[in-house]
Amino acid sequence: MASPHKTAAEPETCGPRCSAYIAGTGFEVPDKVLTNADLQKLVDTSDEWIVERTGMKERRVVSDGQAASDLALAAARKALADSDTQASDIDLIIVGTVTGDMLFPSTSCVLQNKLGAARAAAMDVGAGCSGFIYALSTARQFIETGTYRNILVVGVEVLSKITDWTDRGTCVLLGDGAGAAVVKPTTDRNRGIIASLLGADGSRGPDLCMPAGGSRIPASVDSVVQRLHFLKMNGNAIFKVAVRNMAQTVSRLLNTARVRAEDVKLIIPHQANLRIIEAVAKLLRFPMERVFVNIQKYANTSSATTIIALDEARAAGLIRAGDLIVLVAFGAGLTWGGVLLRW
Ligand code: ACO
Repeated sequence: MASPHKTAAEPETCGPRCSAYIAGTGFEVPDKVLTNADLQKLVDTSDEWIVERTGMKERRVVSDGQAASDLALAAARKALADSDTQASDIDLIIVGTVTGDMLFPSTSCVLQNKLGAARAAAMDVGAGCSGFIYALSTARQFIETGTYRNILVVGVEVLSKITDWTDRGTCVLLGDGAGAAVVKPTTDRNRGIIASLLGADGSRGPDLCMPAGGSRIPASVDSVVQRLHFLKMNGNAIFKVAVRNMAQTVSRLLNTARVRAEDVKLIIPHQANLRIIEAVAKLLRFPMERVFVNIQKYANTSSATTIIALDEARAAGLIRAGDLIVLVAFGAGLTWGGVLLRW
């Protein structure tokens, strides 16, 4: 599908009056659906508890042999088609992920090869669930400095492969998926990224981590026996930080850009827990009708949630040219970040 938002004002590279805009989006989730009823067979939980405490009803999980780059490839192809961009024109690929195909080479390099994007530089960004926001903000810099003009930004996660399916405190929350965006320069003053904001608090790292598999605790029989290659989370502690930081990030973005909350068409938050999303909206006094939620279908796909949600919101006709949109996320690190843009 050709982008309905094509503009005549697309310069070769950015000058001083130029901004970065999202020229196309796409997403991909695995076919396999895991419902709350399915989870009841694995751990001591119930559909009622999961829906009430998280808003999640089902999530997608990959099949054996499927990895992050497989989902990323499908999402990327859709975003390229949506933006009328050839793989050979991509200058840079940035992949936000913590569940890449392997530690190295980076999943962005694997993706570069699969796409045939031979000209593109490639790097991964590890910022937990804020991965797509960090990657998009990085792409913005390369566009605005005039360094690149076609950047593929991906958020992908295959959390099912690092999920402890015996831990009811985490396994009900997670899902697999990928989303992609093509970012380009524009001289259209009424379009593109207006502000972005990133933050981190490394002192809270242990609250959400995968302890083994790196240089601190390399893989060993012991690390496997102790189940250290699975995601560990202190859910309660993260909940509070998530609400506070996401609300503050949105407020600071709007203040920086001198934009009023009532002028924002849609907030697209990280989909970690419906109660977190509702608490953020309440703190901001922002109506839930203008907060996009698809957590019931895909649960928490970490780096992929905001870009999957953006693509779905577009497909649902909720985003029109000129609309002000806020993307906001938090995740492992801990990290957080937001982007304010005019579509
Ligand atoms: N089914 C049934 N009971 C459960 C389940 C479950 N799946 N999980 C926990 N419980 C129980 C607990 O054992 C506890 O029982 P107890 O009172 O007998 O001890 C009770 O439910 C309440 O547990 P809490 O942890 O207080 O439940 P809470 O309402 O805080 O919800 C949750 C837990 C959903 C994890 C919430 O804290 C949360 O969403 N936190 C943030 C998670 C998050 O956003 N993580 C970051 C992203 S993840 C990533 O980066 C990949």
